[in-house]
Amino acid sequence: PIPVIIDCDTGVDDALALLFAVRHPGLDLRAVTCVAGNTDVDGVVRNTLTVLEQAGAPDIPVARGAGRPLIEPARSARHVHGEDGMGDIGLPAPTRAPADVDAVTLLRREILASPRPVTLIPTAPLTNIALLLRTHPEVTRNIERIVFMGGAVACGNATPVAEFNVWHDPEAAAILLTAEVHITMYGLDVFQQVVVPGADVRRLRASAEPGARLAGELLSHRPATPDVGADSEAGGIGDAGAVCTVVDPAGVTTRLLPVEVSLTPGPTRGQTIVDRRPRLGESELHTGTRDQRLVDVALDVDVERFVKLYLGTVESV
Ligand code: BDR
Ligand code: CA
Repeated sequence: PIPVIIDCDTGVDDALALLFAVRHPGLDLRAVTCVAGNTDVDGVVRNTLTVLEQAGAPDIPVARGAGRPLIEPARSARHVHGEDGMGDIGLPAPTRAPADVDAVTLLRREILASPRPVTLIPTAPLTNIALLLRTHPEVTRNIERIVFMGGAVACGNATPVAEFNVWHDPEAAAILLTAEVHITMYGLDVFQQVVVPGADVRRLRASAEPGARLAGELLSHRPATPDVGADSEAGGIGDAGAVCTVVDPAGVTTRLLPVEVSLTPGPTRGQTIVDRRPRLGESELHTGTRDQRLVDVALDVDVERFVKLYLGTVESV
């Protein structure tokens, strides 16, 4: 299996991502690190521990990370994810405490200890990842790739042009995007497309198995479901799509493009500017005139394929 670490802000759809990662036989989830985003970091830790317990994976190390972005104060997304950050579906409290090391320390330890290079999957503001890259740059030698949920080619959600994870900590995202690692951006453009039909959500909710039932409850909360048309019970898998991308890279269509984050105060702050100009041929991109690295940007996703992969995995127990 592929060794992976998820850095998240659980978060309804982060929970969907954790459930998938724990259950997919092709993944070895070695650790989960938490950061402030959808809710405060202590809430994120609590939610993450509970979700892993419900998913039948109570032994995966979980560490608490940054409680706020590098520069700005934390701003919660309770209006999207509920008071508890988990859609207020009444989850029990976890029965264990997080690791006694912080997220950056756990990330470094697990990455360097892994016998095979690790794939990092951030599904949250990139604060922990930026701190890791700045504090322990040597970790990149054992990172296979970073597949992050964040950014947008077209339009944003936190603002008209900025996606929440990048908008919440633009400086951290900028640090990630200039790192010397292979990066895939699973942005809003694809994130919003992968929606599970209502009939499947109903089946999950009625499941006798706690993990599958939890997935159904979370999908019903529909945080990542912008417009489901007539099917009012359909729910988006959100962040889980970034994990699907690691298992099944052919499910997304990507292009290697320059990506830059707007750090300017004002209406563009947090926007990911993806340079799609046709005149930028590969050779021009590599002339070194740009300091941003090229990022594999997901431009399209095979929705049916990812929905099938998601359901097949979550219901596989
Ligand atoms: C991202 O923001 C959060 O609300 C979701 O969990 C996802 O990671 C979408 O913009
Ligand atoms: Ca998230």
